Amino acid sequence: MSSAGPAEPADNTRALFPTLIYDAALGARGVKALNRELVAEAEQIAAADEAGQDWSESRYPGGYTSYATLDQLQRMAPTVQHLARHLTRHALHYAEALHWDLQGRSLVMSDCWVSIMGQGCGHPGHLHPLAVVSGTYYAQAPKGTSGLRFEDPRLASFMAAPPRAADAPDALRPHVLLPARAGRLYLFESWLRHEVPPNPVKEERVSFSFNFVWE
Ligand SMILES: [Fe+2]
Repeated sequence: MSSAGPAEPADNTRALFPTLIYDAALGARGVKALNRELVAEAEQIAAADEAGQDWSESRYPGGYTSYATLDQLQRMAPTVQHLARHLTRHALHYAEALHWDLQGRSLVMSDCWVSIMGQGCGHPGHLHPLAVVSGTYYAQAPKGTSGLRFEDPRLASFMAAPPRAADAPDALRPHVLLPARAGRLYLFESWLRHEVPPNPVKEERVSFSFNFVWE
């Protein structure tokens, strides 16, 4: 009598068209000191950006973002400029993982903005039009702060499919929440919808988000 039972369902399937999320430590020397400088720079930017404060008051309650006012921080803030060089290196690694043929062109950071999220501040679902790679780097991520929640890009195509089991692995879940951790970054393809649930803790979460274009 054979001891082999019926094959596990996973043995008879293959995964095609994966959605790759790049998840890495920045890997810079002295990252703790760099994060302190980034947080200090973020606070200076927020304090000086009155138009951004006004915009954030109505559109980003509980926090400050330079998204609408100062979205080229990689060109004007020296510490962010330094960060951007590391992020570009990671973006090129991500392009390799995606097997992209850049055809003699490169990935160039087109915008970078800072977000300081106080308690209750969140960012509803969105994507990043006109870019190819987007991402977030965490300079300050207090314990218990909210992470980044990704949505299965095929959600609208499922129609009559049954829901996923509660114990489904991450790769098969319709939504996956990845934690915010200081000194780490996530990269994703810009069409991938994502959101930041409201920050539940009192301490501020400081992150830099950015886009890369192919040019
Ligand atoms: Fe985003």
